[in-house]
Amino acid sequence: MAEGAAPIIAAKGLHKWYSGVHALKNVDFYVTKGEIVGLVGDNGAGKTTLIKVLSGVHRPDQGQVFIEGTPVDIATPKQAMDLGIETIYQTNSMVPTMSIARNLFVGREPLTASFFGIGLMDHAKMRDDSVKAIADVDLHLRSPDALVGELSGGQRQGVAIARAMYFKSKVLILDEPTNHLSVKETSKVIGFVKGLRAQGLTGIFISHNMHHVFQSCDRVVAMARGEVVLNKPIGDTSIDEVHGYL
Ligand SMILES: Nc1ncnc2c1ncn2[C@@H]1O[C@H](COP(=O)(O)OP(=O)(O)OP(=O)(O)O)[C@@H](O)[C@H]1O
Ligand SMILES: [Mg+2]
Repeated sequence: MAEGAAPIIAAKGLHKWYSGVHALKNVDFYVTKGEIVGLVGDNGAGKTTLIKVLSGVHRPDQGQVFIEGTPVDIATPKQAMDLGIETIYQTNSMVPTMSIARNLFVGREPLTASFFGIGLMDHAKMRDDSVKAIADVDLHLRSPDALVGELSGGQRQGVAIARAMYFKSKVLILDEPTNHLSVKETSKVIGFVKGLRAQGLTGIFISHNMHHVFQSCDRVVAMARGEVVLNKPIGDTSIDEVHGYL
């Protein structure tokens, strides 16, 4: 990190309880510009809870989130998106009955003109831009008019990543994006993550597969029982060392 530069996103002293469960225990976390952080840990370690706090799904019971050094209170997922935080879950938020082009822009449709305050969607722009955005992530799809419901799981994740890149997210969060995918589809999605890193994008990649994290991330953060137990550059640690902390 350049001296004086604030991390793109940071959290300090986060606590989160789900009734009796203390899911986050004084968690400090940060991502600096241009790094992909791998977030690992056993089932129930608190990884998803942490990213749900960062993406406006949950509010922390204690602690503070910062975007580029400024304290923020992220109350909704929409607000997180407006702040440049895009999240892709294992079953992502796309609408299967809508086309690829419509899904790319859902909630953020470009308008042609506005008549008496009612905007008309710019379908031509949505089609053209979605073709470009999808090609940019090296995904080859027949047509932007195809329904998302007809895509494979890996292709859907590719469209979700293209969407995040199109809207120039500051931080792209991927929560186990390869769950339930075949080996071939998984390697495609890992390829997307490597591509993000090669393009200098900033992101958080949650995975149970330590090899995928070591192949595609710059730094690894491990959580266990609600706490951060390890935070090291990939080059300074090993899969064995990380396993020792889980
Ligand atoms: N909505 C919820 N209500 C109650 N408890 C929850 C809820 N979500 C998570 N928890 C609990 O909080 C703890 C942390 O869960 P979390 O989903 O953050 O773990 P995780 O590290 O993402 O695990 P996994 O690898 O299985 O996805 C667990 O004990 C879990 O059972
Ligand atoms: Mg999880």
